[in-house]
Amino acid sequence: MQTKIEKIDSSSALAVKIIEGQTSQTLDFLSFREKLSYANISHPEKKKEWATARFAIYDALKALKVPYPGFFKDEHGKSQSMNSQGYVSLTHTPGYAAAIFHREQPVGIDMDLIREKILKIGFRFLDTSEVDFLEKDPTHYTMAWSAKESIFKCQGKRGVSFRENILLEPFEIDALKIKGKIRGTDFADHHYTVEVRRLENVILTYTIW
Ligand SMILES: CC(C)(COP(=O)(O)OP(=O)(O)OC[C@H]1O[C@@H](n2cnc3c(N)ncnc32)[C@H](O)[C@@H]1OP(=O)(O)O)[C@@H](O)C(=O)NCCC(=O)NCCS
Repeated sequence: MQTKIEKIDSSSALAVKIIEGQTSQTLDFLSFREKLSYANISHPEKKKEWATARFAIYDALKALKVPYPGFFKDEHGKSQSMNSQGYVSLTHTPGYAAAIFHREQPVGIDMDLIREKILKIGFRFLDTSEVDFLEKDPTHYTMAWSAKESIFKCQGKRGVSFRENILLEPFEIDALKIKGKIRGTDFADHHYTVEVRRLENVILTYTIW
C-alpha cells in the first residue's frame, strides 16, 4: 500500500495512504472495540476507507515510535486515545485515507476530492466575506471547505457551524497556509493556522491547536 509519511516535528506526524484493493498489512493491532466497529461496517468501500485510515494512524505512530493505543469515539464522534495520551484525527475520501497524531495538542485533518459541484453549495458553508475573496473555482472552494473541516475536527464539538462559527482570512488559490478562527461559540477567539497540500485532484489540510 503506497504511503507518504510526514514527520512534522518530534511530537507529531501524519500519514497519507492510497486505498488499494489488496494489502499485506493486517488489522491485528486494533483494539477489541475497534475490531467490532470494523466488523459492523457493511459497505465494502467504506470498510476499506475505515481500515486504510487505521493503517495510516498506525504508520504515523510508528514514525514517532509511539505504540498503537487503540482509539474510541467520544460523544461528538471524535476519536480519542484509549490511554488518554496524545491526539488523533482521521480522514478518508474516495482513493485516499490519512491520519495525524500529536503527543500534546489537538489536531484536525481532512481530505476532499475537488469537484465542480462544490461551487453550488458555497452558500451553505461560506460567510459573505469569504464568498467575496474566493475565486469561483472548485479548487479554491474545496480549500476553504477542507480548512473548515480541519478546524472543526480539531475543536471536535458538534454544533459548530461552518458558515456562522468558522471564519477564514483571505487566501490565494495557491496558498500553503490558511488562517481561520472560531467565533460566536465557547471557543471564540481561538485562531488556527491550517496547512494545505494538493495531491492530484485532492486537497489535504491539517491543523494543530
Ligand atoms: C463529522 C465530519 C467532521 C466528518 O467529516 P467528513 O469530511 O464527512 O469525513 P472524513 O472522512 O474527512 O472524516 C471522518 C472522520 O472524522 C472523525 N470525526 C467524526 N466526528 C468528529 C468530530 N466531532 N470531531 C473530530 N473528528 C470527528 C472520525 O474519526 C471519522 O472517521 P471514522 O468514522 O473512520 O472514525 C463532518 O461530516 C461534519 O459533521 N462536519 C460538521 C457539520 C457541518 O457543519 N457540516 C457542514 C455544514 S454545511
